[in-house]
Amino acid sequence: MGSSRRAGFVAAAKRIVFLGPPNSGKGTQAAGLAEELAIPAISTGDMLRQSVAEGSALGRRVEGVMARGELVDDDLMADVVRQRLAKPDAQKGFLLDGYPRTQAQAATLNGILEETGSVLDHTVLIDAPEDVLVARALGRGRVDDQEDVVRERLRLYREKTEPLNTYYDSQGLLRRIDGDQGVDEVAAAIRAAVGAAAE
Ligand code: AP5
Repeated sequence: MGSSRRAGFVAAAKRIVFLGPPNSGKGTQAAGLAEELAIPAISTGDMLRQSVAEGSALGRRVEGVMARGELVDDDLMADVVRQRLAKPDAQKGFLLDGYPRTQAQAATLNGILEETGSVLDHTVLIDAPEDVLVARALGRGRVDDQEDVVRERLRLYREKTEPLNTYYDSQGLLRRIDGDQGVDEVAAAIRAAVGAAAE
């Protein structure tokens, strides 16, 4: 890719949200894209897991919730995300992976964006059939990857998070990506979707 086109692409796409069910490949795709765009990849799941590993007050509050595959309380998540997005590296843009996950979280994010006079550029929905998602989880081995917990995470996704796809689609922000293909193919599809919209 030529430098002038790359520069235009970078300038155009700065605030991105990854949506999609558990194990659809959000985390796998986030780091590379964020690096190319020179923005931080912010995974709320990773942040929470780090807090658990450190044994912090936040970690102790969320450990059981996460192990059961439930969602952490919206107010607690609002504090986590507000603090993270206030850091210097997020002032020029960010790739949010795993947030928002509820209507209340989407409203919180809208509020943060309004306060900073900014808007989302894209929401990228990576999706795959449920049997593929469960099979991937069982092959990964995280504490919340046991089948009953994965099914609960999927149930909560359908109930609480999937409606956000319609919400962002109605604003013309949703880019749908087939996550049931190879990692490189998914990466190319994301870049095409984001780049095409940016040109
Ligand atoms: P979080 O970490 O966000 O989990 P998740 O959304 O369930 O997503 P995963 O990390 O399971 O999957 P992913 O889509 O990132 O896929 P990945 O790339 O890893 O959240 C964990 C918990 O934290 C929640 O349950 C909740 O308790 C709490 N939490 C976090 N955010 C919250 C919020 N906003 N509000 C409330 N609670 C919150 O890939 C999965 C596997 O598939 C990997 O093994 C990977 O190698 C493989 N894979 C990826 N892509 C492909 C491909 N194309 N082909 C084959 N294999 C692939």
